[in-house]
Amino acid sequence: MEISSTDYERFKTVLEQQSGILLGDNKQYLVVSRLSNFIQENKMKSLAQLLDEISGPTGKPLLRQVVDRMTTNETLWFRDKYPFEYLKSTIIPKYRGRGSNMRIWCAACSTGQEPYSIAMQLDEVSILTSTDVVATDLSERVLNKAKTGIYQKIELNRGMPPEKLKRYFKPSDNEDWQVNELLRNRVRFMPLNLLNVPYSVGKFDVIFCRNVLIYFSSDNKSKVINGLVNCLNPGGYLFLGASEALTRDVTQMSMVRCNPGLVYQKDTV
Ligand SMILES: C[S@@+](CC[C@H](N)C(=O)[O-])C[C@H]1O[C@@H](n2cnc3c(N)ncnc32)[C@H](O)[C@@H]1O
Repeated sequence: MEISSTDYERFKTVLEQQSGILLGDNKQYLVVSRLSNFIQENKMKSLAQLLDEISGPTGKPLLRQVVDRMTTNETLWFRDKYPFEYLKSTIIPKYRGRGSNMRIWCAACSTGQEPYSIAMQLDEVSILTSTDVVATDLSERVLNKAKTGIYQKIELNRGMPPEKLKRYFKPSDNEDWQVNELLRNRVRFMPLNLLNVPYSVGKFDVIFCRNVLIYFSSDNKSKVINGLVNCLNPGGYLFLGASEALTRDVTQMSMVRCNPGLVYQKDTV
């Protein structure tokens, strides 16, 4: 599929407006690899035709599918390790025994490895049942997979320790494994577009928003981070991806070193 520079620019604008995902120059190949089949399956001839369809009066459902296909859903279990270790060793003990429930939000959760990794840490210190774990993503496709809790061996080989596999999974069809019911019942998956600030998900004690803001412009990054900070209770924690940082305009947050890695904490006053 050939893409003219005019169509590429048009597509970039639509994608960024809908999702925040900013395609760089010369990333036409990404559009080709992710949308060629989709364009054919929908009996269209070109990206130009797809653009016309999604901008038309009945284009919304198609637009959602296009945006979904353009998301990068790379994830793994206990990614970067330190956020999960710090959660267990330092954050959870602070909230343990408090009268009210602890709330954790995993924003941009992809296929579920991150929120289920969080749930395992909570279970190991016995506060899973008193913690509300909310996991959101823009992509309905990844959320549907996350809700099933079913993973292939190849996915489990990416970061799942054998003892946790034994403890939290049961064999499913075709050599797949399924996250046990306890964990599946404790994580609530729902669609949420991070561009839609302010968020109506309530207040949280810990927010994970990792490896998604790398795809955003600095304006959208700032908008999202400020939106997340507004959802944090005083003293709450925000984990970003290992290569991500707060934007300069963010206030009320202090950096805490976890060694290795870092987390941001909301000021208490
Ligand atoms: C690379 S994955 C990161 C998954 C996980 N947080 C991790 O670090 O392993 C990025 C996820 O962000 C989601 N995403 C992209 N744009 C989004 C948006 N505007 N709102 C919510 N999620 C978005 C994608 O669908 C994708 O699942």
